[in-house]
Amino acid sequence: MLSAKHVYKTYLEKVSIFKWHENKVIEDFSYDFLSGTRYGIIGVSGSGKTTLASILAGYDRPDSGSIIYSKHPSDGSSIRVRNVFQDTYRFLNPVNTLEWYEKNISAISPDPKLIDKILDAVGLPLERFGSLYIDQLSGGQRQRLAFAMVLSQLPDVLILDEPFSMIDPPNAMVLFSLIRKYLDKSTVIYIDHNIDRVAYLCDHIIAFDKGRIVEEDDVKKIFETQKTEYVEKLIWASEKISSRMKRQP
Ligand SMILES: Nc1ncnc2c1ncn2[C@@H]1O[C@H](COP(=O)(O)OP(=O)(O)OP(=O)(O)O)[C@@H](O)[C@H]1O
Ligand SMILES: [Mg+2]
Repeated sequence: MLSAKHVYKTYLEKVSIFKWHENKVIEDFSYDFLSGTRYGIIGVSGSGKTTLASILAGYDRPDSGSIIYSKHPSDGSSIRVRNVFQDTYRFLNPVNTLEWYEKNISAISPDPKLIDKILDAVGLPLERFGSLYIDQLSGGQRQRLAFAMVLSQLPDVLILDEPFSMIDPPNAMVLFSLIRKYLDKSTVIYIDHNIDRVAYLCDHIIAFDKGRIVEEDDVKKIFETQKTEYVEKLIWASEKISSRMKRQP
C-alpha cells in the first residue's frame, strides 16, 4: 500500500527580475492507494499528474507532507516501487543494448527467467532484438522494453505515467493483460489521457485538477455520474470517436 499524506509542491517561476510567481502544483494531496487495486489518474494537461507521479515514485520530494510505502499500514515493511514514464530516456541509456538490460534486470529480479518471458510476450524476443542499441529501437519498442524491465521485477507498487503513448492498441492490450496476470496483488497507478484505456485497466478513477482530487470513484460510477466538466468531455469525446467508427462499413 502507498499513502500520500498532506502533500504540497510549489514551483517558483520567474516573471521579471524582481517578481516570482508561485505555481502551486500539488495542494494538500492525501490518498491511500491500496494493494490489489488499479487506480487511473486523469486530468487536463498541466494539472500536476507527472509531478504527483514523480513524488509518489520517490523521484521528487514534496515541499511538505509524506509518502508512506508499506505492505500493511502498521508494519512499515519495505516494498518494491517501480515506474515507467512517457520519456523512456529517463532510464534507458542509448549506449546499451537490449541484451545488456535483459542481463541486468534478470540479476535483480525475484524470478530471473521472467524478463525473457515478458520480452517474448511484448514482441521483443532476445534472439531477434538483443543486439540492438536503445537508439535502434522505435519509440513504441523502447516503451515496451521499459515496461518489460519494470514488470519483470514484480513491483508491489507500479506507477505508469503515459507509458503507452507510442504503443499501438493491440500491443497495449497485451501489456494490460500482463499487468493483470503478474500484478494482481500490487498497487497500480496509471496516468493517461485516454479514458478508454484507463477504464479498461483500472478499478478506480481519480480526476485531478490543480493538484487536487476533484472526482473519484469506481470506473462504472465515474461513467454514470460524470460530476466534473473534464470527465464529461473525455467521455463525450471517446463516445463520439467510437460511434463514428461504428458507422463505417
Ligand atoms: N521542474 C519543474 N520546474 C518548474 N515547473 C514545473 C516543473 N515540472 C513541472 N512544472 C510545472 O508544474 C505544472 C504541472 O506539470 P505536470 O508535468 O505535473 O503536469 P501534467 O498534469 O503531467 O501535464 P501533462 O498532461 O501535459 O503531462 C505545470 O504548470 C508545469 O509547468
Ligand atoms: Mg504529465
